Amino acid sequence: MNDMYQGPTITSELGRLPIEAAADRNRLSRGTASEVLDSIDDSPVADLLRDHGSPLFVFSETTLRRKLRHMREAFTSRYKNMSFAWSFKTNRLDAICKIMKDEGWAAEVVSDFEYEKARKLGYAGPEIVYNGPYKSRASIKTALEEGALIQIDNWDELAVVEQLAGELHGTFDVGIRVWVTTGYAPIWSKFGFSLVNGEAQHAARRIIRHPQFRLHTIHCHVGTYVLDPETFRVATQVLLGLRKELSDDTGHLVPCLNLGGGFPSNSLLHGMVGPAEVVIPPIEDYADAIAGELNALPKRDKPLLRVESGRYLVDEAGYLVSTIVAIKGGPRRDAPPETLSSLVVKEQMLLSDTARLSYVLDAGVNLLYTANWFAIQPFPDRRVNSLPEPTRLLGCLCMEIDVIRDHVDLPRLQTGDHLTFHPVGAYNFDQSMQFIHLRPAVVLIGEDRKVHLIRREETLADMEAAESLPAHLSG
Ligand SMILES: Cc1ncc(COP(=O)(O)O)c(C=O)c1O
Repeated sequence: MNDMYQGPTITSELGRLPIEAAADRNRLSRGTASEVLDSIDDSPVADLLRDHGSPLFVFSETTLRRKLRHMREAFTSRYKNMSFAWSFKTNRLDAICKIMKDEGWAAEVVSDFEYEKARKLGYAGPEIVYNGPYKSRASIKTALEEGALIQIDNWDELAVVEQLAGELHGTFDVGIRVWVTTGYAPIWSKFGFSLVNGEAQHAARRIIRHPQFRLHTIHCHVGTYVLDPETFRVATQVLLGLRKELSDDTGHLVPCLNLGGGFPSNSLLHGMVGPAEVVIPPIEDYADAIAGELNALPKRDKPLLRVESGRYLVDEAGYLVSTIVAIKGGPRRDAPPETLSSLVVKEQMLLSDTARLSYVLDAGVNLLYTANWFAIQPFPDRRVNSLPEPTRLLGCLCMEIDVIRDHVDLPRLQTGDHLTFHPVGAYNFDQSMQFIHLRPAVVLIGEDRKVHLIRREETLADMEAAESLPAHLSG
């Protein structure tokens, strides 16, 4: 009897795979883990690295312009009175911002230097929307003088704007940021005035009654990577409600509603089951939700609708190409003898999990900050004839937390092989750090398929440029 019986096989994977790994194996997914990406816009990955070094950020102008036009079309085909702004902080590279400008997108900035950058790139004051919880006094003054639209965030800022307006004389269009509840969680309550406790209504009335101000915009930004288009429907209803309340009360009908950004890209969070094209609602659904509310208004009451998008526009245009510099771990060579107690077997399993197959890359979370939330997909640049196996992708920083993917199924690769992460165009370059390693080069592949260096690799001199030694330490 005993000879016949075969107990259940416990593989080292059972019971230890987190949901992310399960997602990779989901039969509904396309098995993207084994997909190959050997070129970007016709440029072979190997050639790009040969010419510009590894790691390397690569942006596709073709994809970026396609996304810009797609979003514009999705909204303007549903609602005519539109204004589009580009969120500089999502990617502040000059070449990227210039493409936005070229396509007619206004600039949405959130700091002194972003404001300065927008002006340098040729944006006139009235083409700039100035947001953020802290704007310096000097930059507020400049923005007022140059006709940029300041979206006032809090009472202290309102007092500064009032004081500076008094000094400057004249009249100014301003906006107000409010935070709203839509049923979407988490609620972003850090920014703007609260509608819930009546602050927003108070602040808006104070602005409307001020002889030097015209309240031009009511603005809210409910969050980022918002997966439910209905959130935007509710936000639109709430802003329209505030607009009507103010109009009834003061006679001023605020001309513009700004619904912020937050539209998701085709990226998946850790634990989400793809494919992204199925899970992420199309931009048309968001446009439908917002325009549906606005189109129900009588013609004379229809406001200008502004959106200020970031992630949706640029994420898919960006790639990070990296190289495997070392391989660690892998399957145990000495399988535990069958006689071991189950406790010991469990311990062995845990140990082998910690020591599982890992590739060390020449890029880490210093360049892919969003890997903390997003399961960014790595693509080998050659087809490998092996079954995908659970792999860990480690960055090159001297920090245990520098893990880009804790579990991803990849075919067996070798030192020197390339892995391209995609999509990574949103927030990663801007949040990259000069920590342990300097920033790599960035190239843009134009619509003509030419490769342009848009930011060279950093050097030690770049890093030291802002430093100085006191006299007693120099020499
Ligand atoms: C005020 C404001 N507008 C626009 C954006 C862009 O957001 P997203 O990249 O999610 O479109 C942000 C980002 O947080 C923001 O805070």
